[in-house]
This record gives sequence, C-alpha cells and structure tokens, in this order.
Amino acid sequence: MKALILVGGFGTRLRPLTLSVPKPLVDFANKPMILHQIEALKAIGVTEVVLAINYQPEVMLNFLKEFETKLGIKITCSQESEPLGTAGPLALARDNLINDTGEPFFVLNSDVISDYPLKEMIEFHKAHGGEASIMVTKVDEPSKYGVVVMEELTGKVEKFVEKPKIFVGNKINAGIYLLNPSVLDRIELRPTSIEKEVFPNIASEEKLYAMVLPGFWMDIGQPRDYITGLRLYLDSLRKKSSSKLATGSHIVGNVLVEESAVIGEGCLIGPDVAIGPGCVIESGVRLSRCTVMRGVRIKKHACISGSIIGWHSTVGQWARVENMTILGEDVHVCDEIYSNGGVVLPHKEIKSSILKPEIVM
Ligand code: GDD
Ligand code: MG
Repeated sequence: MKALILVGGFGTRLRPLTLSVPKPLVDFANKPMILHQIEALKAIGVTEVVLAINYQPEVMLNFLKEFETKLGIKITCSQESEPLGTAGPLALARDNLINDTGEPFFVLNSDVISDYPLKEMIEFHKAHGGEASIMVTKVDEPSKYGVVVMEELTGKVEKFVEKPKIFVGNKINAGIYLLNPSVLDRIELRPTSIEKEVFPNIASEEKLYAMVLPGFWMDIGQPRDYITGLRLYLDSLRKKSSSKLATGSHIVGNVLVEESAVIGEGCLIGPDVAIGPGCVIESGVRLSRCTVMRGVRIKKHACISGSIIGWHSTVGQWARVENMTILGEDVHVCDEIYSNGGVVLPHKEIKSSILKPEIVM
C-alpha cells in the first residue's frame, strides 16, 4: 500500500521554529512530526511514502534517508515547481500512487497528530464501497477547519465546507484520507484544493464517506494547538504504553524525557512536558506544559510554563518563561529574565525582560 503526505506550505504559523527546519521536521514529543506519521503508516503495512513537497526538499530527504533503512520503508519525493495546493500534488504524483492492484492509497496532512486509526479506516472504506473516505473529529471551534455534514448512520457525506463563515456543524476534516485511484481522474495538474474542489464534487455524487476518528486529534501547526496537542498525546501514551513516561518524586502528571537528558536535584517537572535528547536541566528547575527540544540547557531555578524552547537554546538561572513564549533555535535568555509570551527568532540573546507577548527579531 502507498501513502502521500502533503508537506508543502511554509509553516508560517509555527515560526520561529520553522525558520530552522520545514514544519514536518519540527520536533513533537521528542521526534519530528512527520516521523509519527511515517511510523503509523509503516505499522499498518504501507511500503512506500511519497512526500509532496514544494520547498527545501533536500533538507527533508537528507533527514529521512536515515529512517528509510531504519524503518524499512521507501520514501520518495514529489517536488512541485510552484505550490499546487492540497489536490494538485496528487495529480503530480499520479504515476507513483497508482498500481496494478487498484488498491486505495492514504493521503495525510503533515501537521495532524492522533493515534492514526488507519486499520479501522481501511475496514470502513471497504465496507461502504464509495470512492473516498475521510476522517472527521469534533471540535469546539470549527470555523478554522473544513466542516463535514454527514449521515450519522452510514457516514455518507452530504456537504463539505472549507473554513465556513457561518456555523454548519462541528465535525471537521481531520486531514487523513483513503482514496481510490479513480479520485485521481478528478484532479487536474494545476494549483487546486482537495477541500474546496475535489471533496464537494465527490460528495455531490454521494461517493464520499466520513468516519468519526476514535481517540484524540490535533492540528499542531500553531503554538497554542501544539501545546494542547502534547497534552492529548501524552494522555494517550499514558493509556497505551505508560512505561514510556517518566516516573519519580520530581515528576507530576505525564512527562516524556529522552534517555540522554540530565535532570538535576530538586526539580519539579510536569504535567505535560517533553524533554529532548541531550538536554541539561539544572537543579531546582520548574517545568510545566512545555516542550524543551534537543540540546537545551535550563539553568538553576528557572521556571518555564506553557512554552516551547527551541533546539540548543539556554534559559538563564531564576529566569521565568511563560504564556506561550516560543524560543527559536539557539536563543539565549540571560539570568533572571522574565518572558511573557515572547516569540524569539533564532540565535538571539535576550538581555531584558519581555513584558507582553511580542516578536523579538
Ligand atoms: N505539497 C503541498 N503543496 N502541500 C501543501 C500545499 C502546497 O501547495 N499547501 C498546503 N500544503 C499542505 C500543508 O503542509 C499541510 O500538511 C496540508 O497541506 C494542509 O495545509 P494547512 O495549511 O495546514 O491547512 P489548514 O490546517 O488550514 O486546513 C487543512 O487541515 C485541517 C485539519 O488540520 C484542511 O485540510 C482542513 O479541511 C482541515 O480541517
Ligand atoms: Mg494545518
């Protein structure tokens, strides 16, 4: 079976992290977002993943070469010379997605995190006999997603409305599709949207079906959602394989710590924290609801909450970093600094406090 992952887009909403690497390579729960997906695809028997990409393909491929052998899965790249949207890339990769057996293929948005119930999706797809299946999930604020109106019992989609201005329903497109090869005949090789053009079209012929995704889901392409996504991911990990989570008197709730990270005396860590490889957390540090990426040093008695600390950054002693502060790669926050929602570009040194949410260039 094959799969295509949509990895285009510039990831502007996840800056400054995406100034260092393409969005799919930003770490989430101690590994690049896209690896969560590739591993899930591999687990249900996908043998080849096509990355639909429109910028920095070298960075992506170099990085993923290593995992091709490690995971035993073929990873190829389909590169656009202009952004083709969310459907055009399927037309471009057409020859790569079709095979003699006529079996369906998966398509994934690169920034969604869930338990990826792909096996269940294959069953669902076989059972309804339509042309395409999409996963949907319920959210409180549907307007920033694609909204799906469907028949409760059969899952048949009656309407698909991308980013609706008025309320049509609260079930939204989760960005995980299983499509018959015939869907490719509906897509022209030009910039085009699967949500605005292809799905409404298939729905009007009553051949589009939606399955309500079991378990958690989050689009982690924005800082606030990224932090919420980590909480949901760790909750799910607690249920599935709690042995992967850290334990000890200094741990509160769900915390993920890479083996090579070092944690000093008298720290209090959690809930909902991920600490990446090679990090050094000095004594007396307090961390909650945050991600600390590879190679970061947090000095004595610093306190971090609701924030993301980018690769190889340093937070000085007694510093307080909170309220959706995002430090890009290699940022240095001096001792005793306070950051209230600062968004700091890579390689900066912060010598005075950031009192209200702002971008530091
Ligand atoms: N190759 C390629 N080329 N990929 C692209 C392009 C492009 O021109 N434009 C966007 N993508 C990729 C993005 O990298 C992402 O993986 C996916 O397509 C969706 O784009 P986003 O920019 O993240 O869209 P969104 O989050 O606003 O909305 C989409 O996702 C929601 C769920 O998270 C839609 O599919 C909604 O219907 C859906 O609810
Ligand atoms: Mg998105």
